[in-house]
Amino acid sequence: MTSLKPILSHIDNIPSTPGKFKPEKSSMYFLHHRFRLHTTVPRLTLWSLVFLGLIMLFFLLSPPSPAAPRRGLRTTAAYGGSGWENRVKASAKVRSRNGHTVLVTGAVGFVGAHASLALKRRGDGVVGLDNFNSYYDITLKKSRKSQLLDRAGVFVVDGDINDAVLLRKLFGLVHFTHVLHLAAQAGVRYAMVNPNSYIKSNVDGFVNLLEVSKSTNPQPAIIWASSSSVYGLNSKVPFSEKDRTDQPASLYAATKKAGEEIAHTYNHIYGLSITGLRFFTVYGPWGRPDMAYFFFTKDILKRRPISVFEGPDHATVARDFTYIDDIVKGCLSALDTAKKSTGSGGKKKGEAQFRIINLGNTSPVSVNKLVSLLEKLLKVKAKKKVVLMPRNGDVPFTHANISLAHKELGYRPTTDLETGLKKFVKWYLDYYGAKKKNAW
Ligand SMILES: NC(=O)c1ccc[n+]([C@@H]2O[C@H](COP(=O)([O-])OP(=O)(O)OC[C@H]3O[C@@H](n4cnc5c(N)ncnc54)[C@H](O)[C@@H]3O)[C@@H](O)[C@H]2O)c1
Repeated sequence: MTSLKPILSHIDNIPSTPGKFKPEKSSMYFLHHRFRLHTTVPRLTLWSLVFLGLIMLFFLLSPPSPAAPRRGLRTTAAYGGSGWENRVKASAKVRSRNGHTVLVTGAVGFVGAHASLALKRRGDGVVGLDNFNSYYDITLKKSRKSQLLDRAGVFVVDGDINDAVLLRKLFGLVHFTHVLHLAAQAGVRYAMVNPNSYIKSNVDGFVNLLEVSKSTNPQPAIIWASSSSVYGLNSKVPFSEKDRTDQPASLYAATKKAGEEIAHTYNHIYGLSITGLRFFTVYGPWGRPDMAYFFFTKDILKRRPISVFEGPDHATVARDFTYIDDIVKGCLSALDTAKKSTGSGGKKKGEAQFRIINLGNTSPVSVNKLVSLLEKLLKVKAKKKVVLMPRNGDVPFTHANISLAHKELGYRPTTDLETGLKKFVKWYLDYYGAKKKNAW
């Protein structure tokens, strides 16, 4: 509007009868206007400087953005070299008859480390991939690598599933028969702190992995971790694969649901064989510190109060806790029963297998029971604070129907919560006790 002002005032100077137009007046106007322009320039510069200064002050004073759990993508120049390539190839070497060659993403994560170890132990070739992000204590990830994976001869590539150049390089070096895709931004509550990390790993990263997989010749079969969280607000129990999954309660759940739909697309268009496994609350040794059984243990040992959630009207909050070894068995059976992808080099040659299967324990346990088991195992009374479950992504109840898992995979979980927690507590005390006397 202000820039229109001189033009409008100039028009004002033009007489309505053209014959009476007085150019001198007009040049007077331009002289006057030029003079105004000259005085405005330094003023503009001054205001621009003040404005820039304010912006800089804003950035200096604003609190740091939530910890980005991913480190930046590395340039591919960080990989390669004959030493690196030889380690990848050696790790991928199959040592049993009919063994698979598996790329495990999220290999230094909780499930990834256990699954990589189990595959390697039975003679499959395994290459791990993980970006070692800082969503939780990296020391624990590094320990899983040094104490479990290095010892077993599993090489872990320190890289990101969003790095297509790296993925193509790995697929060029090794003919992977299977991809066990476990890399993800996990946890429901953290989605309110850093939503983009979920999109980056669970959507972008998954698409990138599928893009590279579908272009490979021959294509690998994909087995990947979805989650029980896709059942969201579904209230029909036990949760069956046929139940509705269109009411996610968290962004995490929404990205896992998106993953299932994206997987279907790649199966349909490119003939990739894909199995999505919906894990139900996995726990056990080397577990995840952001999960209740883990931080309850830490807080009980430190004599700190713990918040025990209850639903509206004092409804019990319960989880279908599934022991890590049962989950790993389910993953390995999914690999063994996966049919080959039908496409090659990006072209579909026929219908390919597409499965979505629950992996749970099918015996939900209340959070109160979990706490009393921990009290018994730790021999410490918990300082419980009962609070209403906040609406930040958690659901009150999970319970898996595992008939399909049984039929498709021969899956039969064998560890009850007390037995599994005993193993977890033993590991916890050994690991943190050996690390630092005062760790708990
Ligand atoms: N543990 C559970 O109770 C549970 C339940 C349901 C589903 N899941 C799913 O199972 C899978 C494994 O879970 P977990 O408990 O082992 O979690 P985790 O966080 O311990 O493991 C995930 C690993 O993936 C890595 N990662 C994340 N983004 C990556 C990226 N962009 N590129 C490379 N690596 C990346 C992380 O560094 C981490 O080591 C995840 O997909 C998770 O969503 C787990």
